[in-house]
Amino acid sequence: MPDTAAAPDARPDLAAIQALAAADMAAVDALIRRRLASDVALVNQVAEYIIGAGGKRLRPLLLLLAAGALGHRGADAHQLAAVVEFIHTATLLHDDVVDDSDLRRGRRTANAVWGNAASVLVGDFLYSRSFQLMVELQQPEVMRILADTTNQIAEGEVLQLLHVRNPDTDEAAYLRVIERKTAILFAAATELGALLAGAAPAQRQALHAYGRHLGLAFQIADDVLDYAADAEALGKQLGDDLAEGKMTLPLIHAMQQADAATRAQLRRIVEAGERAALAQVQAAIDRAGSLAYSRARAREHAQAAEDALAALADNPHVRALRGLARYAVARDH
Ligand code: IPE
Ligand code: IPE
Ligand code: MG
Ligand code: MG
Repeated sequence: MPDTAAAPDARPDLAAIQALAAADMAAVDALIRRRLASDVALVNQVAEYIIGAGGKRLRPLLLLLAAGALGHRGADAHQLAAVVEFIHTATLLHDDVVDDSDLRRGRRTANAVWGNAASVLVGDFLYSRSFQLMVELQQPEVMRILADTTNQIAEGEVLQLLHVRNPDTDEAAYLRVIERKTAILFAAATELGALLAGAAPAQRQALHAYGRHLGLAFQIADDVLDYAADAEALGKQLGDDLAEGKMTLPLIHAMQQADAATRAQLRRIVEAGERAALAQVQAAIDRAGSLAYSRARAREHAQAAEDALAALADNPHVRALRGLARYAVARDH
């Protein structure tokens, strides 16, 4: 069994963390494949296309590790891990339509291949399939958490839409968006793991807080990568956020720190949502130290996530969760 605490300062190795839950994840993947099935051919085709492209499967991994941290393994954890991955995948299908994105997981997006209508509708299929799976468990508290979670993700995406092309969006508004669109699903994954394990309230709260902070760190890191990644490693196109006029932390910080002339230039670019201006925006972000600033905010949340784990007795699963907190801010894709 890999010991992820062996080298606390090393760049965390995602593969080693995944190895700890490999058998369970294989069961989750098999379940996902089985439960994707529909007798409508296009549903199978689109769903298989995006699920088959892989992805890091982080949210199901988090659920399994949180349950494992409290000594629980079982079919119910596999089922809920599949549920959170279905929900995540549904949001990606919708998100790529809303963001007009062309590349996802190193492949053309489903909307680029089949069009917006098919992506939205298959996204709805995955959402509702996730609810079918969840209801089978017959646990009202599980249903409450997931109903609240999906509702808040939708609110987060709409809230984000309200800020699109608005150069006056500030860091507080940005945090309100990412809390809902991203952090809440991470928090649900880890809290559900705790719930299945029959956790005491303090442990359940700790795992919720861990997931929430991890999600915030993860989204801030994602927003940094949108300006600074190697596109091939990322498997997504750089500059999608700018092209959509999306106000993310690097841009918000650069707007605040820039001189008056640069700020006016950035305002015009944001209002127009110009991908062609990416190099200019990257230069302004560079001058303002906005990537370093954003990475520091992400690291604070990763640290808060790790701190929340102090409520749990140490074991390999808890160490893997610590490793994931570090991975979230050190990753390149
Ligand atoms: C992408 O999530 C959406 C964000 C919250 C930034 P992931 O980076 O976990 O996507 P996959 O599943 O690995 O493709
Ligand atoms: C995350 O936001 C999307 C969801 C949580 C649905 P992004 O729009 O930044 O995600 P990517 O970069 O397209 O994966
Ligand atoms: Mg997007
Ligand atoms: Mg992004």
